[in-house]
Amino acid sequence: MNAFLHSATAYQFFKVAVIGAGNVGRTLAQRIIEKNVADVVLLDIVPGLPQGIALDLMSARGIEGQDSQIVGTNNYEDTADANIVVITAGLARRPGMSRDDLLAINAKIVAEAAEKALKYSPDAIFLVITNPLDVMTYLTWKVTGLPSQRVMGMAGILDSSRLQLFIAMQLGVCSADISTMVLGGHGDLMLPLPRYCTVRGVPITELLDTSTIDQLVERTRNGGAEIVKLLQTGGAYYAPSSSACVMIAAILRNQSRLLPAATYLQGEYGLEDVFLGVPCRLGCHGVESILEVSLTESEKEALHISAQSVRKNVELAIASLG
Ligand code: NAD
Ligand code: LAC
Repeated sequence: MNAFLHSATAYQFFKVAVIGAGNVGRTLAQRIIEKNVADVVLLDIVPGLPQGIALDLMSARGIEGQDSQIVGTNNYEDTADANIVVITAGLARRPGMSRDDLLAINAKIVAEAAEKALKYSPDAIFLVITNPLDVMTYLTWKVTGLPSQRVMGMAGILDSSRLQLFIAMQLGVCSADISTMVLGGHGDLMLPLPRYCTVRGVPITELLDTSTIDQLVERTRNGGAEIVKLLQTGGAYYAPSSSACVMIAAILRNQSRLLPAATYLQGEYGLEDVFLGVPCRLGCHGVESILEVSLTESEKEALHISAQSVRKNVELAIASLG
């Protein structure tokens, strides 16, 4: 049974399977179809949830004038032949929780989702969003056994967009004129790099004093927790879904975008066997290359400390799977 109204081949649309129809998954699905990036199959374990969301989104199709379509399902068979599988399934943080607190329960959910999705989409690229992000991305790579260029995690674009906003607010300039860079794990040990943050090419270190920059960096590190505290019922999902949609478009449209992504390091930055956020060129094959920017000794040390923390949690996650 063709799950879509029209045969997907009629429009040559790409197909993205979004696993998890929660705040991130459903908002990402909306962004993908409203931007005509791909058709979406939205899957969740809750009976009726993805189907209801998809029907609601499809009801807006005529109003929004989009061509892409979405179906909701509880059945992995409907995700078959996806070009990209996005994993958002899992628990989100509550106030007072760290992303690492989600480790054991989300490890099981992500490992199972990756296995089931791979069975029906063996040629897919996997984009992981579930937290703790770097650990879940490593787990997805391990469980699927895919080439590392076809497994990546979304976090760096989100963290960079937060720093971009805070600089824009501080300087009173448009976010679009600000370019930022954040490396490392998606957590308290992330590494914003003010040296590589510019406003139309002007380094922010020439526009802001050190103490102000430090405050903006600290606010970026706590960006997720600030929203969790305000919402009380869960975490951010608008900027995260925008960030993931940028990555999906870069891959499906073969844009060769240079974007931060959690990717597998094999010696880059002096690190091996770890997924960590670094600048990558994203295109139709997934992570097509990694950009090694020069780091000061203290920046390098901070990146390695971040990597060590991710490695420790990877070991815990794998152990929790038994
Ligand atoms: P949510 O609770 O709104 O949604 C999670 C969804 O996953 C729910 O609908 C739930 O039914 C579903 N689910 C649970 N187990 C499942 C399974 N085995 N198979 C399929 N679906 C399953 O949470 P959210 O706000 O959408 O966040 C999802 C995850 O993404 C969380 O771990 C959150 O921390 C993470 N997150 C990461 C980033 C990032 O920058 N990487 C940003 C935002 C959120
Ligand atoms: C954030 C969490 C949810 O950064 O990862 O918003």
